[in-house]
Amino acid sequence: MTATPISTFADRLRQRYGEGDAPATAVAHPVIDLMLNHRSVRGYRPDPLPAGALETLIAAAQSAATSSNLQTWSVVSVEDRAARARCAEMAGGQKHINECPTFLLFAADLARLERVAESEGIPSAGLDYFELLLMAAIDASLAAQNLVVAAEALGLSTVYIGGMRNRPEELAALIGLPPMSAVVFGLCVGYAAEGREGNIKPRLPQEAVLHVDRYDLAAQDAAIARYDAAMAAFQEREGMKRAGWTQHSARRVEGPAQLSGRDDLMKALRRMGFLKAEG
Ligand SMILES: Cc1cc2nc3c(=O)[nH]c(=O)nc-3n(C[C@H](O)[C@H](O)[C@H](O)COP(=O)(O)O)c2cc1C
Repeated sequence: MTATPISTFADRLRQRYGEGDAPATAVAHPVIDLMLNHRSVRGYRPDPLPAGALETLIAAAQSAATSSNLQTWSVVSVEDRAARARCAEMAGGQKHINECPTFLLFAADLARLERVAESEGIPSAGLDYFELLLMAAIDASLAAQNLVVAAEALGLSTVYIGGMRNRPEELAALIGLPPMSAVVFGLCVGYAAEGREGNIKPRLPQEAVLHVDRYDLAAQDAAIARYDAAMAAFQEREGMKRAGWTQHSARRVEGPAQLSGRDDLMKALRRMGFLKAEG
């Protein structure tokens, strides 16, 4: 058996950006090395998480910063097999939702705060503005990403499931969410199946995303063109269609049909009790 070489930090950066676009200077750190090694996994072994792992992951999630310490998020672990199958179906038939040992639904949750205000006899009209919904979605995302990093530190893999926003009211009914609470995404957690560990997917050169003092859109063109080539090479290595990044990304936003039902999300959220003060 040949030993797998341990990647140096510089190797990881090259994998993340491609040969010519890795930053020339960077500060090596084991936590950041773990982050650079991230990949979404869409094939899982059935083995459950070790005892205490879920609780540990939730503690990591709860350690994320949260706006005004309001903690406007909740998570539902879907264990019931039939409920799992319905989640997979709602997300457009994503098989990994059925396969992974742990499937988490992250909710933007203003219901708890509404109840707290009610118990204090204080009105909660502030909850009816877009700002609070956005705050809750941000809180849920920061918590989830902390959980992802913690999971990867434990040798687990994950993939986010935005497809859980396809049918928000049906999903809320399935898991008993009260009004003012909505799932913003799901997350599969488990051990990657053999051969399904995935590879580091390159990201845009920093030249495209990092700006100093003033944002510059046109100056990004050259970096985007290089990235398109890096993504095409990645797709070829992965045995995927060599579509590059620009074509694929432009197609993804072509029209409402590409939103898989989420073009109606705002209306659904209003029916779920959010945004009452917004016109
Ligand atoms: C909020 C969010 C929703 C996502 N939804 C899905 C999804 O429904 N299905 C899926 O297979 N991947 C999903 N992904 C994973 C992305 O496709 C993936 O992160 C991206 O292609 C980059 O690949 P990497 O994570 O392996 O680096 C989602 C990622 C995020 C952040």
